[in-house]
Amino acid sequence: MSKAIQLAILASGNGTNAQQISEYFAGNPEVNVNVVIYNKKDAYVATRAENLGIEARYFNRHSFYETDEVLSYLKSREIDYVILAGFLLLVPENLLAAFPNRIINIHPALLPKYGGKGMYGHYVHEAVVANHEKETGITIHIVDHRYDCGTTLFQARCEVLPTDTADDVAAKIHLLEKEYFPRVIEAVVLSKPIPGQ
Ligand code: GAR
Repeated sequence: MSKAIQLAILASGNGTNAQQISEYFAGNPEVNVNVVIYNKKDAYVATRAENLGIEARYFNRHSFYETDEVLSYLKSREIDYVILAGFLLLVPENLLAAFPNRIINIHPALLPKYGGKGMYGHYVHEAVVANHEKETGITIHIVDHRYDCGTTLFQARCEVLPTDTADDVAAKIHLLEKEYFPRVIEAVVLSKPIPGQ
């Protein structure tokens, strides 16, 4: 049997998506979460990875942008795909060049709405509520050199009620992320049909 596809998850914060992806692929002979890389020293994602028995490795901003350390590390672990799960740095050029169409991001809105620098996490949900949107959702896309702009692979929608707070919207988004992000990753890396597309 051929070797499992190796994933590296990049994250900056809490890490619920990193955990969900890791749990989804646990024991899967075809896809393996090889490592979680994080760029904020106190990111809770590191604890989640350790609890799951997954290697967690910290690199600072300097390592990402001024050196080839992250790339060398990914190569040393024979990584096939890079998954951004709440990763807030712009992906450096050396990684984009090394993983063409193999870096996948999730964004908590229906891109191109509510994307771009500074539009992440709770800021997105606050803007959605402030603008009285009737729906929002998630976008899973290929990463390029801009924030939130690469080819869209998948979107899922949810209703925003007039009474919803940003926390309410965040809860709906997290449900969509949990339901779809691991399955979409699986479909993409195994070249299978993307759910619902
Ligand atoms: C997720 O909602 C993800 O979609 C979002 O950050 C959150 C991370 O949560 N990503 C972005 O906003 C990227 N622009 P998590 O750390 O609990 O997975």
